[in-house]
Amino acid sequence: MSEKKYKVWLNGKVVRPEEASVSVFTQTAMRGANVYEGIRCYWDADARQLNVWKLDQHIDRLFQSMKIMRMETQFTKDSLKQGALDWARANEFREDVHFRLVVYLGDGGSGGVRAFKADEIDFGAVIFGGPRRHQHALDHGLHVAVSSWRRISDDVMPARVKAGANYQNNRLAAMEARTNGYDDALILNRDGSLAEATGAAVMMVREGQLITPPVTAGILESITRKFVIGLYEKYHNMRVEQRNVDRTELYIADEIFCCGTAEEVTPIVSVDRIAVGSGKPGPITRRLQELLEAAARGKDPAYRKELTPVY
Ligand SMILES: Cc1ncc(COP(=O)(O)O)c(C=O)c1O
Repeated sequence: MSEKKYKVWLNGKVVRPEEASVSVFTQTAMRGANVYEGIRCYWDADARQLNVWKLDQHIDRLFQSMKIMRMETQFTKDSLKQGALDWARANEFREDVHFRLVVYLGDGGSGGVRAFKADEIDFGAVIFGGPRRHQHALDHGLHVAVSSWRRISDDVMPARVKAGANYQNNRLAAMEARTNGYDDALILNRDGSLAEATGAAVMMVREGQLITPPVTAGILESITRKFVIGLYEKYHNMRVEQRNVDRTELYIADEIFCCGTAEEVTPIVSVDRIAVGSGKPGPITRRLQELLEAAARGKDPAYRKELTPVY
């Protein structure tokens, strides 16, 4: 990702990337004390418009993360939405982009991890990003391994909170997978059921039925997951089964894919070197890829309301 080339929105101002710095004395720098969203904008070449995909849902989830983390900040939903639009406009993007909107804990003096009230610690927000392409993965799929690391659980580090610090768990799994020659990892929860990939929800197809772990399986409540469930139920006229998924089901599934804002719908073509189905992306995966793409590009009238124009 080439995000360092682009302007950054920092606490209400658009600044050059070299000016976008945060103090070493902040809790975000030292302890990863922040919550954030990863959001995509899609370029509509016909309308010559850049649209933010599902901005409201991302801002709502950000505020849920802040609520759990007791972050009573000065930021309102509207101020952060406006920030995202101002950031995209300032960069004059005319292509698809992906950005992070981070709300962080600043300098809390000697309060350490105890400081959280507005008179004890300050809060900041930053928006940065740029083009993020992954066409090869979309076309050919990923080879993944089941990680030996377990997913963080709700009573330890809630995966439902999109907190920067949570991603140390994903990092361990991703590094292990890469070291062993895989593209990514699938992570099981404490109970040994499937949780998610390192940055995406996971779904599988067995005998024509789409199945995905429930939101209580130690996963981020993915916005794309929810959207894909809706797409499948609408266009295939079948319910998605939300239930625990065993590791060995992954070995005999007909199709598997991961989905998320960054990953969109990305096929998974092998798990632990066992081919998924024919070893090629399957038809349900392909169809969901197309449906998501059409919706995000404003080609499906049913979902135009999910797009916020930048210009
Ligand atoms: C761990 C994890 N799970 C799932 C997702 C997918 O969530 P969403 O569809 O809201 O981007 C992401 C990406 O944000 C993620 O980091």
